Amino acid sequence: MEPTRETFGNIPPTSQAVFYVLTVLAMGVFAYGLWLRFRMWRRGQPINLLQLLVGGAKVMWGKIWPGTRRVLVEGLGQQRVRGRGLASSAHIVMFAGFMMLLLGTTLLEIDHLAAMISPELSFHRGTYYVIYELTLDVFGLFFLAGCGYFLWRRTRRPASVGHRATDWYVLLSFIAIGVTGYLVEGLRILWQQPQGIAAWCSPVGLAVSKLFSDLSLADARSAHWGVWWIHSLLVFGFIASIPYTRLLHFITGPMNLFLAAPSLGQLRPVTMEEVELTERIGVSEIGHLTQQQLLSLDACMECGRCEEACPAFATGKPLSPKAVVQDLRGLMEKTFAGGAAKAPALHGETISAETLWSCTSCNACVEVCPVRIDQVALIVDLRRHLVSEGGLSGTAATALRRMQSAGNPWGLPGNERGAWTAALAPSPTNSDPA
Ligand code: HEM
Ligand code: SF4
Ligand code: SF4
Repeated sequence: MEPTRETFGNIPPTSQAVFYVLTVLAMGVFAYGLWLRFRMWRRGQPINLLQLLVGGAKVMWGKIWPGTRRVLVEGLGQQRVRGRGLASSAHIVMFAGFMMLLLGTTLLEIDHLAAMISPELSFHRGTYYVIYELTLDVFGLFFLAGCGYFLWRRTRRPASVGHRATDWYVLLSFIAIGVTGYLVEGLRILWQQPQGIAAWCSPVGLAVSKLFSDLSLADARSAHWGVWWIHSLLVFGFIASIPYTRLLHFITGPMNLFLAAPSLGQLRPVTMEEVELTERIGVSEIGHLTQQQLLSLDACMECGRCEEACPAFATGKPLSPKAVVQDLRGLMEKTFAGGAAKAPALHGETISAETLWSCTSCNACVEVCPVRIDQVALIVDLRRHLVSEGGLSGTAATALRRMQSAGNPWGLPGNERGAWTAALAPSPTNSDPA
């Protein structure tokens, strides 16, 4: 018999109907959460996305391709996630497992809809079925291995990584989704009794089915139905929670990779036209950041790579690029979605001048950020405002003052400018060939 299985096999029509209602509900909660974030990003300075669609096909492609390439190579290919040892490998296998399971579920639904039009259109059978089942079984293990590592890492609470209560929910629910997925498969194998390759192509499910071999066929069917519901409810919870947890990064990450400036760490000059138009220099309120900058705040998953790379943080200065991004993100929420309570000021109350002036603009944070958040541009934009208000302080202020008065950052008198060359001048004895 040709290897295959019935989609929604053993699931009564009422359960199927409730399943689709809950799917729509979960997607509604997801879409609403994303809409709330989108409303906040929109409050930033416009970035005119429509200009990407201006011009002929070749011109448009020239504008769209660099961002698309970054999404493919750095997002899908996980290029910028590499470089952090086990954490990088764990994310890559978890990501690969997740993407494969997502693709598998999508293909299954397409097959189900196709079969409703005509059974002839169903393709979930034969060699395709064998490859499909085997691939998903193996990638499910990758997914669980990656989640298992991150759960273990959370118990150790590394200092540079951010910790929120929902992180436990995310990782535990991922693991529960993986485990119940294998249980559903094992129980299905028990009641369906596939033979030969049709059973062997699901090696993990087959091993799980052996654990329950004492169950009668009827019990296997009811257990299958029960675990199928638990698995489905966990998946609905996961879909609905994406915009409200750290999982948001797998939407905002690729979005920011697409929109980020192609050359990292290149500061944007301020033009006189801009100053005349906006009547300000730099950023004094959260809404002065661009829409892309506000979105980038939501792409941060608090991995702590920037903090680990920051020389100012390492030398005990009051600066962590991760904290700057997170503080701005918090302010964005308080300002645009905080209700009646007055949001704190950006300068002073949210980020201190001392923090801003501790940055050496070395760009190390920007180089390591997996989703291309430009922490230096954020810091410099905030500093520009301080300068425009005469709020320059610390060594930078002293250096600039001396540049103005003496023409050099050390404040040395102009007539001593050439003094350092004295030691280099050839002495008469040296120059005398005799
Ligand atoms: C689109 C591209 C993505 C990028 C660039 C990305 C990047 C990252 C990075 C850099 C981390 C921190 C890991 C570390 O500590 O080094 C992380 C954490 C995480 N990512 Fe992704 N991610 C992406 C997509 C996804 C997807 C599709 C999933 C779904 C499984 C996912 C699930 C997670 C989870 C659960 C964590 C948190 C781990 C923890 O609790 O410590 N990511 N991501
Ligand atoms: S640019 Fe500033 S914030 Fe970034 S690593 Fe260097 S000192 Fe730290
Ligand atoms: S800004 Fe980038 S590197 Fe820093 S914690 Fe956030 S995601 Fe990680």
